[in-house]
Amino acid sequence: MKKYFLLTPGPTPVPPEVLLEEAKPILHHRTTEFGKIFIEVIEDMKYVFQTKNDVLMVTGSGTAAMESAVVNLLSEGDEVIVVSTGNFGDRWEKICQAYKVKVHKISVEWGYAANPKDVENLLSSNKNIKAVFATHTETSTGVVNDIETIGKIVNKTNAVLVVDTISGLAGQKFLTDEWFVDVAVTGSQKGLMCAPGLSFVSVSEKAWKLVETSQLPKFYFDWKKMKKSIESKETPFTPAVSLVVAIHKSLEIIKQKTLQKIWADTEKLAIACREAVKSMGLKIFSDEPVTCNILTPILMPEGIDGQKVVKTMREDFGISIAGGQDKLKGKIVRIAHMGYIDKFDLVVAISGLEIVMNKLGYKIELGSGTKVLEQKLF
Ligand SMILES: Cc1ncc(COP(=O)(O)O)c(C=O)c1O
Repeated sequence: MKKYFLLTPGPTPVPPEVLLEEAKPILHHRTTEFGKIFIEVIEDMKYVFQTKNDVLMVTGSGTAAMESAVVNLLSEGDEVIVVSTGNFGDRWEKICQAYKVKVHKISVEWGYAANPKDVENLLSSNKNIKAVFATHTETSTGVVNDIETIGKIVNKTNAVLVVDTISGLAGQKFLTDEWFVDVAVTGSQKGLMCAPGLSFVSVSEKAWKLVETSQLPKFYFDWKKMKKSIESKETPFTPAVSLVVAIHKSLEIIKQKTLQKIWADTEKLAIACREAVKSMGLKIFSDEPVTCNILTPILMPEGIDGQKVVKTMREDFGISIAGGQDKLKGKIVRIAHMGYIDKFDLVVAISGLEIVMNKLGYKIELGSGTKVLEQKLF
């Protein structure tokens, strides 16, 4: 038997009390009992999003919520800006293209954050832009984008700002209303400490106006149907009831701890992890000030295959971290520190990394990383 440690940037580990909720007998979704839980989840998500706007729930992973944003806001041929800083920024472009929406793309070199000025320039040279799509924490590169500044820029125009905070929410500071984010999307399996399968969308008044003009085809993802059902404490279709009951518990834990404390603790883990990695002679892929707090992206030295590091960590020690995606495959590894991942999980990850790097031929003094980690964390 091997003990298993999950330190990937989604899915993330789920607290035992949340797992136990998932194991409870199934509730019927058209009952007062379920309706109460569902509405509390919607209200609690307003706290997590930091919004007074409507919040809707989608049964499906984060990408489902992303697709729901495109089909509810736009019509074929509409022009939009996609700000892409990595693999997940590119996903906005792919979804838009699938629905024949015309994309003006701001492509940022992987490892860097977007420059809000580029958004401002593109918006001022094209008055037809209906929406700007961006990513809060770009999980593929470990970069956090300046959504606050982008929000101020987009707010002065007729366009709506749509932000993917699937990995960032409840880990990295995110203020939907204060930052003028019209639509924010997130998923259940990261900072929200639940199993994958649920996603949430917040929708501003400005965004609802655009919904009124949208002509893209939609049925399962129809936001108007979802909003109407919430009035009777229901969902249009059968929701993933066990996940709803489970996330109800996670949200209780989050509220009790408070977002401010979660953001501060996550930042502390991030700083310690980055320092530990540097003390091992390794480099951070996207270094400060653009590195996000929810994961540490580690550049692999010449001759070391990141895929092999990930595989050896998992197969030899049961420690699950993530490799690089797309053009970063083999070049970086990513250690997550969000949600239920805590200090001692990081000690395990850094210790495992020291051992595995040595095993694969890259000399690291054993204990060099864990020493710094412990000094920073405890
Ligand atoms: C920033 C970001 N966007 C989108 C996604 C896609 O979400 P899902 O895999 O839940 O569909 C992820 C998941 O890793 C993500 O981290």
